[in-house]
Amino acid sequence: MDNARIGKSSVLQAVRGMNDVLPDEAPLWQHVEDVARRTFAQYGYRNLRVPVVESTPLFVRGIGDATDIVEKEMYTFADKLSGDSLTLRPEATAGIVRAAIEHNLIYERPQRVWTSGQMFRHERPQKGRYRQFHQLDVEALGFAGPDVDAEQIIMLARLWKALGLTDLSLKINSIGDADDRKRHRTTLIEHFERHRSLLDDDAKRRLHTNPLRLLDSKHPPMQEIIAGAPRLIDRIGDAAREHFDGVRRALDDAGIAYEVDARLVRGLDYYNRTVFEWLTGALGAQAAVAGGGRYDGLFEQLGGKPAPACGFACGIERLVMLLRAADFVRNDAPIAYIVHAGDAAAAFAAGLAERLRDDGHAVVVNAGGGSFKSQMKKADASGAALALIIGDDEIAAGTVTVKPLRRDTGQVAVPTQELAARIAALAA
Ligand code: HAM
Repeated sequence: MDNARIGKSSVLQAVRGMNDVLPDEAPLWQHVEDVARRTFAQYGYRNLRVPVVESTPLFVRGIGDATDIVEKEMYTFADKLSGDSLTLRPEATAGIVRAAIEHNLIYERPQRVWTSGQMFRHERPQKGRYRQFHQLDVEALGFAGPDVDAEQIIMLARLWKALGLTDLSLKINSIGDADDRKRHRTTLIEHFERHRSLLDDDAKRRLHTNPLRLLDSKHPPMQEIIAGAPRLIDRIGDAAREHFDGVRRALDDAGIAYEVDARLVRGLDYYNRTVFEWLTGALGAQAAVAGGGRYDGLFEQLGGKPAPACGFACGIERLVMLLRAADFVRNDAPIAYIVHAGDAAAAFAAGLAERLRDDGHAVVVNAGGGSFKSQMKKADASGAALALIIGDDEIAAGTVTVKPLRRDTGQVAVPTQELAARIAALAA
């Protein structure tokens, strides 16, 4: 066992690329999740949860075996008992489509669903890129028209606004239908074959398996031939063209600015027609905050009846970084911290805190004793607006001493009976 090799005295650490979210940071995460949940609900998206572990073939078939994710980034292991090959999910779409097929979810009507949680990719960690990361993932299952593609993009614009993020830009593209891509593939292979000497090893290896991905290459000598490559968007069929025009019209009607980027191809193979990404300039190389598109072939690819679908995912870490950069603060401090001295006061404090919580207030009672001074220090560190001070004198007088911690107004004695009614005003 690996455990046996870890000396007793060595300090255990989190796995590289997998981060803890500590209490000071968590309010930002909760804010992103709360705002997203509310926004998605406004458009009729309902929550659905799928396992973190799925059978490996789901991702190989779903995401595509020539993609970076499947080729080199999956956490795959053999189940010790069954010998089955299992994988920690690198994304949520394949699992959601599997679940939709398995539970006949779109038998009667299409479904708008969303999920959130950990994803795992064995990438090289850097700012904004981790091996365990979190996504908000949204899928519209069983919808064929361009209206739903546009609706998702518009919903994201609303989410950015609700989060106070102003500097995000949108890129969209159409990668056509399967036949368009097949034809284009041949044309692209011919184009790059003509310039074979300029390709790096990766591009040479991929040329015949996934030539579209060559367009993503950052290899400097290839940039010119990439720029001169035939563009898929100029050759897509009428149906795909009409669909893309529909998406653009809906975005124009909604006043959403976008750039059509013929080079936007995305890193997963299941897409067709619309693809899009929302980008930021604030996170260096990891510019994509959200990405998605249409994947009309995936249901069939995974053994289900053919069904059109469209979706996207946002990286929560990246949203949190943007909020932090914008100095966003969410105050999750309690309204009051109760400082008390003596056994009678401790019991009284516990009862008082429960009464205040009955009214919905967040109240922390000092635990673990300590002098008046040290308790006041803890009250201050808790971020509470008020310290409620209870000692023998207060109990005898039937009052609580209320000391504002965030302003210089002095303390007041408030009759215990009146505290629940007055505490909000006292903290304001
Ligand atoms: P994706 O573009 O691979 O798409 O990921 C979506 C978002 O997840 C990215 O834009 C980024 O914000 C975040 N992300 C991806 N990898 C990492 C990482 N290593 N560290 C931190 N954040 C990361 C998908 O996953 C598709 N399943 C989206 C989709 C849903 N398409 C249709 N439905």
